[in-house]
Amino acid sequence: MAEVVDTITHPEEAIRRACEVLSRGLPVAIPTETVYGLSADATNPEAIGRIYETKGRPRFNPLICHMADLEMAEQHAVFDPISRKIAEAFWPGPLTLVLPVRKDTPIHPLARAGLDTVGIRVPTGIAGRLLAAFDRPLAAPSANTSGRISPTSAEHVNADLGEKIELILDAGPASVGLESTILKVVDGAIHLLRPGGLNVADVEALTGLVVLRPASAGATIEAPGMLASHYAPSTGVRLNATDVTPGEALIRFGGTPLPGEDKATIVLDLSPGSDLREAAANLFGHMQKADASGARCIAFAPVPATGLGEAINDRLERAAAPRN
Ligand code: TXA
Ligand code: MG
Repeated sequence: MAEVVDTITHPEEAIRRACEVLSRGLPVAIPTETVYGLSADATNPEAIGRIYETKGRPRFNPLICHMADLEMAEQHAVFDPISRKIAEAFWPGPLTLVLPVRKDTPIHPLARAGLDTVGIRVPTGIAGRLLAAFDRPLAAPSANTSGRISPTSAEHVNADLGEKIELILDAGPASVGLESTILKVVDGAIHLLRPGGLNVADVEALTGLVVLRPASAGATIEAPGMLASHYAPSTGVRLNATDVTPGEALIRFGGTPLPGEDKATIVLDLSPGSDLREAAANLFGHMQKADASGARCIAFAPVPATGLGEAINDRLERAAAPRN
């Protein structure tokens, strides 16, 4: 198992240990408000290679580069006025912007999968403090084996990757619980590449622009990580369940019981009070628990698709998609 340092009781030690391991070109699992990330020095190709290796991730998939603040981000990417306005409003936070990369950036092409754009995010909390101390961008995908459920706690990370990494920083459960919302501004139009922890309606309210979804934008899969099967538990997943059959786990929403749930292996509610923010924060942890209950299938009751529900339903569809 990996060494786990509690960042709430020992923040300085956590940052010192993480900087030391990162400087040796090794990955460190770090807490962010969205999910736990597997971070490595974005300027060091061996370090980036170890992220791909540890996750078993396809090489073609670009990684998000994390920055301490907007000022640091500007050293690596070119901001158009709309992206800048969005960054100023929502960073630090659960937002990634895909931007043209600056020619003089030390971010290694391997972190960008050779693209001339870079995905940048400024996280809150201890991750932000670590970035300021390390003073270099950190590439960090979610700290899980590729295709599996994203980790929202240090325990999830240790159970999945503990044998492969040296250090995990622990800040308790992730507050948002879903990966960042990914946006890309092209010719004055905002494109949604991945729904996530930042409500798209807040971006529309700020900018007065409609955020274009993939279908309306006529785009192909712009974020190559958006593979159909993703976030998958090891058991099967059934969506829009209106009842439960024996041997299934049930994950419901809004406190409404379902017929047959007394025969479920476990019954969990994403938010008994129908709060989508709470549901997002609980989603991956509940999937882990349902998966561990020995169920032959996880049945999900419907979740409203408004606000953060768009990102929740996106993750549910990927969890239910046919596996290769
Ligand atoms: O919340 C998050 O974003 C978490 C935490 C750890 O920060 N990170 C995360 O990273 O979800 P990852 O690597 O699992 O997801 C990266 C997504 C992928 O879909 C990838 O294809 C897309 O971002 N992406 C990264 N750079 C891109 C680029 N230059 N152009 C298009 N998509 C990009
Ligand atoms: Mg991921």
